[in-house]
Parts: sequence; C-alpha cells; structure tokens
Amino acid sequence: MFYSLAAPSWGPEEIKAIERVVDSGMFTMGENVAKFEEAFARYFGMKYGVMVNSGSSTNLVAVASLFYKKDRPLQRGDEVLVPAISWATTYHPLHQYGLKLKFVDVELDTLNADVSQIEKAITPRTKMIVAVSILGNPAAVDAMRKLADKHGLYFMEDNCESMDAELEGRKAGTFGDLNTFSFFFSHHISTMEGGMILTDDLELAHLCRALRAHGWTRDLPHDSPLYERTGRDFYEAYRFLLPGYNVRPLELSGAIGLEQLKKLPAMTERRRKNLKLFQELFADDPRFIIQRENGKSSAFSFTIILNPERGVDRERVFRALKDADIGYRIITGGNFLRHDVIKYYAYEIVGGATPNADIAHDYGFFVGNHPHDLTPQITRLREVLDRACN
Ligand SMILES: Cc1ncc(COP(=O)(O)O)c(C=O)c1O
Repeated sequence: MFYSLAAPSWGPEEIKAIERVVDSGMFTMGENVAKFEEAFARYFGMKYGVMVNSGSSTNLVAVASLFYKKDRPLQRGDEVLVPAISWATTYHPLHQYGLKLKFVDVELDTLNADVSQIEKAITPRTKMIVAVSILGNPAAVDAMRKLADKHGLYFMEDNCESMDAELEGRKAGTFGDLNTFSFFFSHHISTMEGGMILTDDLELAHLCRALRAHGWTRDLPHDSPLYERTGRDFYEAYRFLLPGYNVRPLELSGAIGLEQLKKLPAMTERRRKNLKLFQELFADDPRFIIQRENGKSSAFSFTIILNPERGVDRERVFRALKDADIGYRIITGGNFLRHDVIKYYAYEIVGGATPNADIAHDYGFFVGNHPHDLTPQITRLREVLDRACN
C-alpha cells in the first residue's frame, strides 16, 4: 500500500531476541518480562511496571485493582468520568465492574476531554476520572490530576495511544494512580500483543500482579502488604487471594519489548518530524481541522476533520483516498455513545450531548504515521485532499 495505517518497526534485533527465547526453551512469563517491566518503568520514571498480554488487559487489571484496595476501594455504582472518544476497551472494564460512566464531550481541536466540563460533573458518587490522550496528543492530564486530588478521586490514564508524549517535560502515562500502555502492532512500540501498567503505588502494583495471574500469591514478594505467608509451602504454592485472571504475557513479548524500548526515542523523534510536515501542510487550511498539539505529541497518527461548515462530502474524500491507495479509519472508534454496545451500559452524558465527538464521528478520519520518513506519503495526501475538497 502506498500509505498504510501502520508499518512494522522490528529489525534484526527483535528477531534475534525471539531466537534467544526460542533457544532457551522458556516461553512462559519469566526473566525477559521482568527485565522489560523494570526498564519500561525506569524509562518513564515510575516505580512499578506490570506487563500483561494486551492494552485491553491493562485496563481490565488496573480497574479491578482499585476494587481490592484496603482503603477507599471502588464499589459498584460509583461514578467515573470518561471522554466520549476512546477505544472500546477503555470503557468495557468500567462497565464490567459495575461503575456508572459519565461521558464528557471532547474538544474539537485536541480531541481530548473538555476539562471545563469535568469539575461541574463531579458529584459525591464520583470516585474516578479516566483520561485518554488521543492518537499521541496529550490530554490535559495535569489539570485532571489536580481536579482528582482536589476532590479525592482516583485518576487513571489510559495512555495506550500516546506513549512517549509529553506535557511540560513530563511524560503522558505518569500522571495517573494507574497508567496503561499498549504494545499492539500499530503502536509506538510493538511486542505483537502486549501492554504495561505503570504505578508508583506498591499496593496497586501487587494487586495488579496477583490479578494478572489467577489472583494467586505466586508472583508477589514474601513481604507483600497484601497477605501474610503461613510458612506451609504446600499451601502457599497455590494460594488464591483475589478473583483474578490469566492475562500473562509471553517471554517472547518481554524480549521484544526490551529491544523496542531502546529504539523508542529515535522512533518518536521520527514520528514528530512527520507530524511537523503534516502540520505545515494542513494547519492553516480552513477546510481541515487537525489536532492542536497540547504539549508534545508522540504522533501516533494524523487526524483530519472536514470542516462541517464547508459541506464537503466525506464519502467523496474516502473514494479519493482509496483511489490513491491511502489507508484511513474513523478516529479511535469515533463517539463511543454511537456504538451498539452502549445499550448494555449504565451511563449518563454530561451536559446531555457530545456535539464535538459527533462532529469527529461524522466528519473525521485518521491516516497513519510511521517511525520512518513519510514525506512522499504526506505530500501526496495533501494533493489528494486538496483536489477532493475543492
Ligand atoms: C485508548 C486505547 N485503550 C486501549 C486499547 C487496547 O489496546 P490493545 O489493542 O493492546 O488491547 C487501545 C487500542 O488501540 C486504545 O487505543
């Protein structure tokens, strides 16, 4: 494809890492995963990393962990504030754990939650804010962190789309009590499937470790605050503390992650160079609304919303993109409230409507960004859109 949504980022280093694991004969979670957890947490300046088998599983385990905290556990029926645009598995665990979701509209320019709506929406039943930074562009996670602290709420960052993005010198995915990342194929780094939870809270880290694997104690240190060992090894070997899952990653993914992480700074820099060209070509054209960078985007991909006031037919644009062999998709699934699955949820819409998320849904799309030079592709995109939108 001339301009695809995503491109592979592995080189010979990742293949060698796979071969080393194959030669070792040890495929289940072990030292490579542990080393990757440590290296990943260090890169982000966080204390604890817990790797699981996908970004979706990070959200599941992270949300679950808050229900088993000793102090102030979340409870069914508690309210959580979420943005109207995100990936389905940002929301599903919240629903599955019985929380009531309160959807906040996004800003049309950043595509992230409109913080001005959040404080007004907080009630005595509100217990958590979930922030999502869409497609590399940091949400106002600093402001949301402050709001959460002011109101005594948990703050979780689903940072699955914005690894290595920064806000005032601090990385996105480090502001939350829990912060989640995805290593799926198209993401900033890829381990095939995989994800990581980062936290500075020892109790949450241990809860996540237990929930990741059967809810057992096996992966906890003996001095964990979660439980007291009995000294009877026979029973300690299979001791179940929590209603957990098995969402462990493979050693292969840990080994690949270690190699990918070394390349992350250079890959982000390259993505940002492509972003600069994209911004130069599209920023001042009133036909297109592109993402306004908040802080430093890690440029997962490039969003374009056709200015609704110009009356351009999006289907015509899609046909032109198809003819030019350029891949495109709805922006992170569009407005989540417009999906069939919403009928199963307990939810409320803050302010009664999400007009900006609707505009993104009806007039928007994204094209890919890759960790290598996309000058010919972005230039061609500009020509194609110019013609299709005349
Ligand atoms: C915001 C967000 N959260 C969670 C996920 C789920 O990650 P995964 O595909 O690794 O399960 C994604 C996937 O892209 C995402 O965009």
